[in-house]
Order: sequence, then C-alpha cells, then structure tokens
Amino acid sequence: MNDIAVIFYSRSGTTRLAAQMLADRLDCPLFEVEDAVSRAGFRGDLRCVIDNLLRRHVPYRYAGPPLSEYANLVFMAPVWIGHLAAPMRSFLRDQRPFTRGVAAAVMAARGGFRAAEEIAEALGRPPHPVIVLLQRDVVSGDARADIDAFATALISQPTTDPGVSRRPAWLSPNEA
Ligand SMILES: Cc1cc2nc3c(=O)[nH]c(=O)nc-3n(C[C@H](O)[C@H](O)[C@H](O)COP(=O)(O)O)c2cc1C
Repeated sequence: MNDIAVIFYSRSGTTRLAAQMLADRLDCPLFEVEDAVSRAGFRGDLRCVIDNLLRRHVPYRYAGPPLSEYANLVFMAPVWIGHLAAPMRSFLRDQRPFTRGVAAAVMAARGGFRAAEEIAEALGRPPHPVIVLLQRDVVSGDARADIDAFATALISQPTTDPGVSRRPAWLSPNEA
C-alpha cells in the first residue's frame, strides 16, 4: 500500500494550484475529480449555486486508482455558497466508508469552515488536519507557508486509526 495521495476538485484552477504545491511538498501523487459536464461561464456559475443549494448529487469523473490503495488521503476542493463544492461532496459520499487517514483543505474567497465541516459529514469522520486557504493567498503564493505547515502536520501524524475520532485542527491563520 502506498502512503499518501492528494485528491482534488477545482473548477477555476485555484485548488489545482494549491493541490500541486502540496503534492510537490509531499512528493506524492495527485488525482483529480472532474466535472462530467462543463461548469464554464454564467450557466456554469448558476449550476454551482443550484447544485449546492439543493445539495444535489452531481455526476463527476474520477480516473484515479481506488482510494483503498493509499494509507492516507488528502481531499481538496473549493467552497460554493458556504458549502463544499458539489462534485467533491458527491465523490466523498460515493467513496464512503473511509477506513484510512483522511485530511482536508478547502479553498475560499472569504472563508470556509462550514465546508470543512461538511467534508467531515461526507467522510463520516472528522478529517485531520484541516486547512482553509484563501484564493488570493494561493494565487499570490502567500499560502505556501500554510501549505508547508499542513504538509508537516500530515507527515508527522501516524495513520489514523479508524476507531479514533479526532478533533479537526484548524491550521490556517487566514480564516475570515
Ligand atoms: C458559485 C460560487 C460560489 C462561491 N461561494 C463562496 C463562498 O460562499 N464563500 C467563499 O469564501 N468563497 C466562495 N466562492 C469562491 C471560491 O471558493 C474560490 O474562488 C475558490 O478559490 C475557487 O476554487 P477553484 O479555482 O479551485 O475552483 C464561490 C465561488 C463560486 C464559483
């Protein structure tokens, strides 16, 4: 079994950038959850809002390996109207139950604690560690220190015992 993998969903590239930084730092593989139907443009914006408001289970594509091949998983996705982006929420629900170590990072323009809590809900267990990154910090590169601290926390923790419920660690000092 491999040690760790990063799995991300990104509509407009910010989460992809942060996920790439984290995977480089951890020297681990990166796998993507993609939209089955494009969310580009205004109609795409509208679908993001409606899918999240109605908590729809949405179609997605995942071409990565089975998650059971990894002892630890990091999930990364953006916040849409205060909630975890629908494609990642749908993916996580379909992948349950999680019996390995799970960590989470959410991308937001202003803040995203509720989205991180939703990851815990979707996983059926609290992820650890958890980080909320602001889009402007990812784009400017200011988030690198937070991503490094997140990576260090991931490396230093033992694989989570499925029976042990941890409190999420809110690492980001930038939360709005
Ligand atoms: C439809 C929609 C709703 C959003 N709602 C929120 C929100 O409620 N709070 C927030 O902080 N950011 C919100 N954002 C901003 C995104 O979370 C932010 O731009 C994120 O970095 C996008 O990640 P991506 O580039 O990987 O898709 C929203 C973006 C979209 C498209």
